[in-house]
Amino acid sequence: MKTKEDFIERVVYTEEEIAERVKVLSAKISEDYKDISKPLLTVGILNGAVMFYTDVVRRLTIPVHFDFLIASSYDANTQTSGKVNILKNIDNDPKGRDILLIEDIIDSGTTMNYLINYFKDKGATSVKTCTLLNKPSRRKVEVPVDYCGFEVPDEFIVGYGLDFAQHYRNLPYLGILKRSVYSK
Ligand code: IMP
Ligand code: MG
Repeated sequence: MKTKEDFIERVVYTEEEIAERVKVLSAKISEDYKDISKPLLTVGILNGAVMFYTDVVRRLTIPVHFDFLIASSYDANTQTSGKVNILKNIDNDPKGRDILLIEDIIDSGTTMNYLINYFKDKGATSVKTCTLLNKPSRRKVEVPVDYCGFEVPDEFIVGYGLDFAQHYRNLPYLGILKRSVYSK
């Protein structure tokens, strides 16, 4: 069996560090939305955001509704394709709702930019973004990052929901993937 040393270069954030940061973000979100009239529509972007999503929403003290979508802009490799498709849309009508998009990582910004415009066009009252990781050095389109867990350098990160070709999502920490894993 392979051990984590076979594919992880180093751990960047431990389980404990992630939990501490999530507490801060959830408190801030609860404060910012404390006066909303309808429950906050929290939209988790599957599959990557699933762990972050459940950890953030469970600590919110405001009324929330759950929803999820699947968008594809990324191929099995580490380069974004630039085109976004919604493979599974949300179940709620976005019209007149305050939407919080919860994502694993904002990289080129292509996915978030597309989704923000998509929900604004559908008549959402507001659309804000909450991302576990932000990689500003890779940005191709500007996107507002309203809530961010951690800013990371241009390295490929896996764990706590983030994958490489669907692997490593279940690692409880965030780690840099060894280049030898994907540059074969
Ligand atoms: P963007 O549209 O380029 O911002 O890409 C966002 C998506 O790319 C994320 O939801 C991830 O699925 C994927 N992604 C970008 N960088 C990484 C990374 O370092 N590790 C894992 N997935 C990544
Ligand atoms: Mg993703």
